[in-house]
Amino acid sequence: MQSATTKPRVFSGIQPSGGLHLGNYLGAIRNWVRDQDKYDNIFCIVDLHTITVPQDPAALRENTLDLAAVYLASGISKTQAMFIQSHIPAHAELAWILECFVPMGWLERMTQFKEKSGRERERSSAGLFAYPALMAADILLYDTRYVPVGEDQRQHIELTRDVAQRMNQRFGELFTLPEPMIQAAGARIMGLDDPQKKMSKSLAAEAPGHAIFILDAPEVVRRKLARAQTDAQPEVRFPAGPGVTNLLEIYRTIQGKDWATVEKEFGGKSYSVLKTAVADAVIEALTPIQQRYREIRTDDAALVQHLRGAAERLTPTANTTLRRVQEAVGLR
Ligand code: TYM
Repeated sequence: MQSATTKPRVFSGIQPSGGLHLGNYLGAIRNWVRDQDKYDNIFCIVDLHTITVPQDPAALRENTLDLAAVYLASGISKTQAMFIQSHIPAHAELAWILECFVPMGWLERMTQFKEKSGRERERSSAGLFAYPALMAADILLYDTRYVPVGEDQRQHIELTRDVAQRMNQRFGELFTLPEPMIQAAGARIMGLDDPQKKMSKSLAAEAPGHAIFILDAPEVVRRKLARAQTDAQPEVRFPAGPGVTNLLEIYRTIQGKDWATVEKEFGGKSYSVLKTAVADAVIEALTPIQQRYREIRTDDAALVQHLRGAAERLTPTANTTLRRVQEAVGLR
């Protein structure tokens, strides 16, 4: 496929499963926005991934538009390609073919599957198991070079490379090999209530103090941070424990500061000074996004039209790759 620009292709996506949190923002969206002019970007709303676990249909529709509005409100330009995964059937079609080339053993090793299926392994959907093959299809359809994500997605991108290599060896150069683009700051934000666990949508649904949501009101942000776990020391000291380290990580990612600077800034300070500074920084980052989000959601028709338009423009590219693969494996 010939790219319309000479900039390297970037592809990334987020699930519209509701409750977009600070980890999603700092680990992904914020970096997409900052670097958008450097790349030829495709930002996807991966609704097919979301239905791998049970969803309320009305909520899924709402969360899909919410996520699109948050992308734009966060500063993704309307000139970037932003679309809904299920609007381009080639994603599901390529995913099926890839599933037939991905050994079960590779999928069994995926930590996200192990975590999400948990003790309910036998009852979890086949879709949840095959999930990384769909993610590989997303990435490979567009000859993607870079995939900007948080640390938790690294393993899925490695699997994408593995299946691409396996098929390239067998059929010739079918796919471009993608690389993960994972930032040094903000790539793994931990839960406020339990800094041993990654901040996640599913844990947030069980414990309200676990995550800050992108659409949380300022007083909610302050309350959640006030209750965030710290260390068993009288003040901020280094090396700090996981709770304080996580708060400092949130702060330094938003402020673009290095560790030495934040250690100097907060060493010897009380936890309440630290928490107030983190709350101020988070609120300052989220408030303009929330305002723009509310404006964008007043016109859902325009939003849907924008998403449909992008899917239409991307479809020929996706279909070109799909045809190439279909021909290679003997389906055409
Ligand atoms: P999802 O929806 O779970 O997460 C979206 C993005 O947020 C990042 N993230 C975090 N970053 C830092 N700290 C955290 N606690 C944290 N939690 C989540 C994720 O790394 C991700 O970048 N499988 C993907 C969606 C996907 C995708 C793709 C991504 C589907 N197809 C193709 C890239 C390319 C997922 O479930 O992300």
